[in-house]
Amino acid sequence: MSDRYAVIGNPVAHSKSPWIHAEFARACGQQLEYLRIEAPLDAFGATVEAFRASGGRGANVTLPFKQEAFRYCAATSERARTAQAVNTLVLDRGEPWGDNTDGVGLVRDLEANLGFALRGRRVLLMGAGGAAQGVAPSLRAQGPGRLVVANRTPGRARSLAARFEGVDGCGYAELAGAQFDLIVNATSAGLAGELPPLPSLATLLAPGGLVYDMVYGRDTPFLALARDAGVRTSDGAGMLVEQAAESFFIWRGVRPETRTVLAALRRG
Ligand code: ATR
Repeated sequence: MSDRYAVIGNPVAHSKSPWIHAEFARACGQQLEYLRIEAPLDAFGATVEAFRASGGRGANVTLPFKQEAFRYCAATSERARTAQAVNTLVLDRGEPWGDNTDGVGLVRDLEANLGFALRGRRVLLMGAGGAAQGVAPSLRAQGPGRLVVANRTPGRARSLAARFEGVDGCGYAELAGAQFDLIVNATSAGLAGELPPLPSLATLLAPGGLVYDMVYGRDTPFLALARDAGVRTSDGAGMLVEQAAESFFIWRGVRPETRTVLAALRRG
């Protein structure tokens, strides 16, 4: 039987992870199978246990279970603890161990794929939920000149920001007059076809700046707005592939090449 991995979420039918990991395995000459498992909303732990009992060696965790996966793990990486969320489970080395590769996935996509070096740049992170928490530590670690977390509920942005030295949290209205080189959308607004209540992009984004939406596979109102404003945009396809590559490395000890897979994913 080949080594068994899976993505666990709800819903999970749309997940590209099985395809991405199959491409990585083929390119690296590794024998593995990668399943798609929909866990009932009230049975994440039992689903992981059943998968483990069936020989599962590792799993990716997606919405809405990343925080629950963090609590499920007996031990976690430092980056998972900072994010309070786990997207990568290691199940074949004793007690379940959890890591979070979302942040490093975003940073690699920005820096290696899009050529956007974060050091010294002014970064606005929109959202203060699980997705924003997952990437804030990695953005901070790159030494941006400024990192501001803005959220519809300003208190949540302030509590997230307070966990990091030099990071500010606020509501959208307080952004008036500020300017950023990078705006990252980590809200779930786009999934509902909504737009975070940002002040004008034309003044908020510095000339030559980049607008990034962490959502993949859907044209969000935020990306459409940025395109209409004529600014450079990216969706979350590269982040998806890069976080998967980091998970693959954790499980298999081999770092897959990502460019070909990303190009194929974009071709659809
Ligand atoms: P996730 O795990 O996807 O981050 P979450 O923890 O429910 O999901 O967080 C969703 C984020 O999207 C929050 O920051 C939320 O703002 P609030 O904290 O004010 O709820 C944000 N969000 C969702 N819909 C939004 C909208 N229409 N406009 C602005 N922000 C929105």
